[in-house]
Amino acid sequence: MVAHLRRAKPWLEVVRGDAAELCGLLERAGVTRADAVVSTLPWSLFPGALQARVLGQVGRVLTPAGAFTTVAYLTGLPLPGARAFRRRLRAAFEEVLVTGPVWRNIPPGLAYVCRRPVAGGPLVSA
Ligand SMILES: C[S@@+](CC[C@H](N)C(=O)[O-])C[C@H]1O[C@@H](n2cnc3c(N)ncnc32)[C@H](O)[C@@H]1O
Repeated sequence: MVAHLRRAKPWLEVVRGDAAELCGLLERAGVTRADAVVSTLPWSLFPGALQARVLGQVGRVLTPAGAFTTVAYLTGLPLPGARAFRRRLRAAFEEVLVTGPVWRNIPPGLAYVCRRPVAGGPLVSA
C-alpha cells in the first residue's frame, strides 16, 4: 500500500510505521499536532493495551478542535475486542458520534467520530 500510494499520489507524504508510535512518527515528519486523524486499523483484533496505547497517541496529537474518525464493520461489533474498543473510545473522548450504518460498504460498517480527548487518555483496563 505504501508503494502504491507513493507511486499513485506523489504529492502525498507517506510515513510507514507503527500506529503505537504515532507521536514519534509525526514528530520526525515535522508535525506536532493534527486537526484530523483518520484510521481503519483493525481495532477489534488489537489487545487492550495496544488499543489504549494508540488511542492515547491520537489524543496527544489532536488539536483542541480536532477530530478522530475510525470505522468498524457491523459483523464485528459483538466481538469482545470491538466492545472493549467502544468502551475505550468513550473513556478517551468527551464526544463519540456514531454515524451509519453504511450499507453500501462491503462489509457494511459504521464510523466513530470522536472529539475532545480526555486528559490522560484511556485506561488500559477499561
Ligand atoms: C483493514 S486494513 C485497512 C487498510 C487501508 N487503510 C484501507 O483502508 O484500505 C488494516 C491495516 O492496518 C494495518 N495495521 C495493523 N496494525 C497496525 C499498526 N500497529 N500500525 C500501523 N498499521 C497497522 C495493517 O497492516 C492493515 O494494512
